[in-house]
Amino acid sequence: MSLMRRLIDELPAQLRWAAAAEVPELALATEGLVLGMGGSGFAGDVAAVFAEAQGVRVAVHKGYGLPGWAAAGHIAVVAVSHSGNTEETLSGVEAAHTAGLAVAATATGGVLAQRASEWSLPYLAVPPGAQPRAAAGYLAGATLRLLESAGVVTGTVAALTEAADVAEALLAGDAPAVAGEVAASLRGRIGIIYGSGPLTAAAAGRWKAQLNENGKVPAWWSVLPELDHNEIVGWAALPAIGSDAVGVVFLHDGGEDARTHRRAQLTAELMAPVHVAGTVASRGAGPLARLFSLVVVGDLVSVAVAEQAGIDPVPVAVIERLKKALAE
Ligand code: F6R
Repeated sequence: MSLMRRLIDELPAQLRWAAAAEVPELALATEGLVLGMGGSGFAGDVAAVFAEAQGVRVAVHKGYGLPGWAAAGHIAVVAVSHSGNTEETLSGVEAAHTAGLAVAATATGGVLAQRASEWSLPYLAVPPGAQPRAAAGYLAGATLRLLESAGVVTGTVAALTEAADVAEALLAGDAPAVAGEVAASLRGRIGIIYGSGPLTAAAAGRWKAQLNENGKVPAWWSVLPELDHNEIVGWAALPAIGSDAVGVVFLHDGGEDARTHRRAQLTAELMAPVHVAGTVASRGAGPLARLFSLVVVGDLVSVAVAEQAGIDPVPVAVIERLKKALAE
């Protein structure tokens, strides 16, 4: 079993760590803004889904600086960087600090931890590990706990515990087999992941990123109902691409709009001969558990895709090279 495959098995323990973590006090706010890139930015996607289910807005910023509206709001800014050294995230923290916004941070260390100490920012250290994307339970959990400390969301401990239970049951149950089937159906194809609403859109983004980073294959994602207004037409002129070169995976969630569910069925039919590589439905009751249930399967698929190709899923040499070149 590869290291990355073993790390997926750690997800439930990571979520439980977050549920039990000692969280610093934050200034109260009515909405959140999460700064983070890649595997760390996914924590923001999770927080946005969780908050939306409570009727609260948490925005995610994946880039330099801050969004233009940030200075005006009564917001809790949470900076997430596994290494603590991601330049886009650090530039956002600096901008937020300069603008006098309430900023909290979570990282394993690095410059972000130093800034937190210099500027007395509330800081939640997550345990170090092999790769940011393999720390999704720590990072998403820490982000949620910090947002709860700012009064932006509620019920994170129970939600993290349910997510851990559901992930554990899936890992011990049928998820590895389901993932193996999807990976086999994606063999030699570019994965295109279709979500069916905001929760599955976040999961689809994670699937895409994990296929890229673990599987080392191109992948893209899109979401219903929007894709029915453009992308569905884009398969017509090059039918061989759809039938031979890609595999579409539909993600579903019990909380999705019934009209979107119907759209997904019709879309799959109307897209033919585009190859459908699988359909995966979420499990669990709360939104966090449902989202992580899809993450578990997607993470397993990405590792199975790497294993099929005889590739080690862990290293992401080109990302490291790019960061080094930018630093020089
Ligand atoms: C690597 C990974 C990347 C990083 C990203 C940001 O496993 O997932 O997407 O997460 O380059 O780095 P950090 O997370 O250290 O801020």
